Amino acid sequence: MKLKELKIGDLRADLPLVQGGMGIGVSLSNLAAAVANEGGIGTISGVQIGFREPDFLRDPVGANLRAIKKEIQKAREKTKGIIAMNFMAAMNNYELYVKKAVEEKIDLIVSGAGLPFALPKLVKGTNTKIAPIVSSVKAAKIIIRSYLKSDRLPDALIVEGPLAGGHLGFKMEDLLENKCKSLIDIVKEVKLLLSTFEEEYKVKIPLIAGGGIRTRDDINGLKEAGADGFQIGSLFVPTTECDAHQNFKSAYINACDDKIRIIKSPVGMPGRAIETNFLTQGDRIIKKCHKCMPDCNPKKIPYCISQGLINSVEGRDGLIFSGANLSEVNRMTTVKEVINNLVGQ
Ligand SMILES: Cc1cc2nc3c(=O)[nH]c(=O)nc-3n(C[C@H](O)[C@H](O)[C@H](O)COP(=O)(O)O)c2cc1C
Repeated sequence: MKLKELKIGDLRADLPLVQGGMGIGVSLSNLAAAVANEGGIGTISGVQIGFREPDFLRDPVGANLRAIKKEIQKAREKTKGIIAMNFMAAMNNYELYVKKAVEEKIDLIVSGAGLPFALPKLVKGTNTKIAPIVSSVKAAKIIIRSYLKSDRLPDALIVEGPLAGGHLGFKMEDLLENKCKSLIDIVKEVKLLLSTFEEEYKVKIPLIAGGGIRTRDDINGLKEAGADGFQIGSLFVPTTECDAHQNFKSAYINACDDKIRIIKSPVGMPGRAIETNFLTQGDRIIKKCHKCMPDCNPKKIPYCISQGLINSVEGRDGLIFSGANLSEVNRMTTVKEVINNLVGQ
């Protein structure tokens, strides 16, 4: 099955591949630009992006705003391709961060972990496109109806299934008992919904499917179900271009599938991560609150998610998000090789 280019408004990606945003710091300008240079869409994660700035502990908001600008500029120096930025809708100062990325003329904002209702107003009057992430047709319907109140539609819709890495938009018990709908089934339902809006408003809203894509066969199956694009996260981690520490990449290479866990994240959503000491018996003392989530009470959470993610991306024991089915991921590779394997015949 031949793959077509991916059109999101006036953006044209030669390959219909989107590298999923991976926070904290796993997908920054280096990985995003490498994917964009191959003809896909690269995504910089905006979550606590300022963690390497010297004043991050004292002034996380200032550090994050500065790092958003820096990472977009760095990506632009490395590629003329399409660069997106991913922000979790549930994080503190979300609107401030999205506005900064829009001011820096980011091509596309992708947002999940909560429904990103504010996006239409945040990009109004600019050329930045918006792509919410949903995990059900119900969520897709809610977000589209909400955007229509602002007289617009999403420029693309990302459908993330239960095999994805990071936070998951499914119930904990359904994930643990393997009762979630498959990505293919959700894609079919959302495609049907989108076709009614596309017909009524005479637009095309590309559907990008993600979560557990490992092979060309996975892509073919999702394409047949109606997907126009494919979002991939985990496969891009053990690449030379990925922005994480080598220890993080090695954890992917060494992980067996029985060491990948569904966890209850302090954010209040389930997530998928590789079992580490941090997860099972890690440091439970929260020395510093990074004020990343609005309703987080450091006294009531099992660990600080920002600290866990910063530890791991810097190579220390921490929280390592990953997608399911990593058994075939067993060596370091490159972005080019990952993409060739996925789009080759
Ligand atoms: C290490 C890691 C971090 C992630 N962080 C985020 C994030 O900050 N925001 C987000 O929307 N999705 C996040 N995701 C999900 C990815 O963007 C992507 O949609 C998902 O991983 C696709 O599934 P796959 O990893 O099986 O390819 C993360 C995934 C991983 C593996």
